[in-house]
Amino acid sequence: MLIANWKSNGSKAMAIDWFKNFFDKYSFKNHETFIGIAPPFVYIDQINSLKKSNIKTGLQDIEPFSGARTGSISANMAIDLGCSFSMIGHSERREFFKESNDQIKEKIINLDKKIIPILCVGETEKENIAGKTKHVIQNQLEIIKNHELHDLFTVAYEPVWAIGSGQTPQAEEINEIHKFIKDVVQSISTNNLVPDVLYGGSVTDLNAMSFFEQDFVDGALIGGASLDGSIFADIVNIFNGTKNK
Ligand code: PGA
Repeated sequence: MLIANWKSNGSKAMAIDWFKNFFDKYSFKNHETFIGIAPPFVYIDQINSLKKSNIKTGLQDIEPFSGARTGSISANMAIDLGCSFSMIGHSERREFFKESNDQIKEKIINLDKKIIPILCVGETEKENIAGKTKHVIQNQLEIIKNHELHDLFTVAYEPVWAIGSGQTPQAEEINEIHKFIKDVVQSISTNNLVPDVLYGGSVTDLNAMSFFEQDFVDGALIGGASLDGSIFADIVNIFNGTKNK
């Protein structure tokens, strides 16, 4: 699974260029690979008309309820527009919009399997230096305790200090954390689900292969490098080439 997280970037013109560049480069076609684009919601309809069928659209954040939730995009609207997934609890939502673990829990539980949740977890630089990475992630995952998860529930491991910084953990460290995440989710979810775990944080076409070579890395959540359709296509091609050897 490869997800392009456009964050609050893009325009109608950019979306047209993006798909042109993407399809020029997208060579290693494997229709099994889940390729998702999470643009700002206002561009979803346009992107649905530009994309081809094996590419999915999704949200960067979601509100499970409809009605009295001014400013929010509800799960029913996402489904109405053909979205198949939503990121939940991205560190920028946690930092700039003060989303707490409790609010993130509400979202996951009340989505009630309507859409694939991609739960984002990860430690800050300070927590990393203090050796608290697993402890922090365990806490962030506790919200799904005793909950029956969507079969395709996915976790994105995104160390906060790696996002947009050009720095990343070593590929082996990422692999170890991904194994930890799979074990925790399996042991605390009611349906003992072993989730796919994506890595996110400064993934580029230059370092992607080192991550994809790791056994427990099932894909990537890509911010900055996903804004260029050609680079994102390169990363998809590298993924397909590495995971299908
Ligand atoms: P980045 O962002 O690839 O620009 O580091 C990743 C993310 O925030 O999801």
